[in-house]
Parts: sequence; structure tokens; C-alpha cells
Amino acid sequence: MAKPNLHIFEKEKDWENAVLDFITATIADVLSEKDYCTISLSGGSTPKRIYELLAESGSRRGIDWDTIHLYWGDERGVPHDHEDSNYKMVKEALLDHIDIPEDQVFPIPHPQQPESAAKVYGLQLQTEFGSEGNTFDLSLLGMGDDGHTASIFPHTPLVTEKKAWAKEVYLKEADTYRISVTAPVINRSGRIAFLIKGAGKAKALHEVLKGNDQPEEYPAQLIRKSPDVHYFLDEEVARDL
Ligand code: 6PG
Repeated sequence: MAKPNLHIFEKEKDWENAVLDFITATIADVLSEKDYCTISLSGGSTPKRIYELLAESGSRRGIDWDTIHLYWGDERGVPHDHEDSNYKMVKEALLDHIDIPEDQVFPIPHPQQPESAAKVYGLQLQTEFGSEGNTFDLSLLGMGDDGHTASIFPHTPLVTEKKAWAKEVYLKEADTYRISVTAPVINRSGRIAFLIKGAGKAKALHEVLKGNDQPEEYPAQLIRKSPDVHYFLDEEVARDL
């Protein structure tokens, strides 16, 4: 198994700059081969600051938003204007502050109807990427303290979902639905960057990277380990590695 690329930082600013450098370098590499770059965005709180910094410094870093297509790796089963919406979080942190053509932004549609949202979004992804080659050029992912990534949660059907491109999932404890891109689609990304911080996730991360293979317990294990998968970590979350 390929050694995962671990990038571990003590200082918040260094972690942020490393992530931003990785994103801008990936975009430049992709645009040297094709005329636009597709990025799948993670939800949650960790990437929010990165999206804000991309809004502030993206152009200065050479990002031309006319060459970027934005997707979401998952969404909560709420309207796009709901406080829990990943779309709303990205809109406020990034989209409201950059000039990106509306027809290059692909939120998961009407997530409050999770089953149909998953079907429509899955078809959209299949139409865009086809059955060969890369899906997203870059997937940004987070990880929960239970080892979930995107909305692939432990002991849910999404862990073993191999056919659908996107699927809805009901989370009993939270009594809520989510829609997620599935692991096989994420694994076809050109590059993958996990953004993970905080002592609370250290045990899960140790299990994901060093533990026995048990994706039902730690679904982030489903994401391939390859030279193109990078983990941007702070020292707290990396303490057991
Ligand atoms: C979401 C994310 C989810 C997230 C993890 C970590 O919709 O919440 O896609 O997978 O990345 O739950 O979230 P934090 O960054 O808030 O810890």
C-alpha cells in the first residue's frame, strides 16, 4: 500500500498556506492539460477558513475562477438557505466574494428531497465524468471523529455502495438525511486532500491510517492510499501517527 502523504503543522497559518499552495498547484497542473479544473468541496467547519482565504487571495495566487468548476462531496438534507447547508457555508465563505460563472457551480440540487437529489446529482456527475478516467480533478475531504468522510458514516449502506455515484443516507441518531458522493467516485479523483485537525480526531485518524482494515467502523479507510492522496494535519490530530 502506498505511503500516505502526511503534511503535519504546528502553526495554523502554516497549515492554511500548505493547503492553499496545494490547491493552487493542483489547479495549475490540471490547467496545463485541460481548460478547466473540477474541484469537489468538503462541508463541515475545517475547510471554511480555506474557502475564505481562497476568496481573499485566490486571484493573487493566480486562480482564474473562469477556469474552475465547483462541486460538493456531500450535503445535508436541508434547503440551501438552511444554517446546516454546506452550500450556504461555501456561498458565504467563497461564492459571494468571487466572480465565478453561475453555470460552473454545481450544488447538490434540492437536498431537502434526499432520494431524488442523490439521483439527479449522480446522473449529473455520470454525464460530466463518464465511466473512464478521473472524476473530480481535486476532492477536498474532511473526517469526523468517528472516521466518516463526506457523508459516508460508519455502519451505513454508503460504506458498501459500489454502483451509485451519489446516494442519500438517513442518520438515525441525528434524525437527519444526508446526500453523499460515493467512495468509488471519490477514489477516481485526480488528487485528494484530507483537511483534518484537532485532538478529538486523533484516535480515528490513527485507526484509518494505521489500524486494521475495518471501513464499517472507519469509512475514511475506503479512500484509496496513493501518491495523489494528501493529509493536511495539525500536530494534535497527528499525535498518534
Ligand atoms: C460535512 C462534511 C463532513 C465533514 C466532517 C468533519 O458535511 O460535515 O462533509 O464529512 O468533513 O464531519 O467536519 P468538521 O470539519 O466540522 O470537523
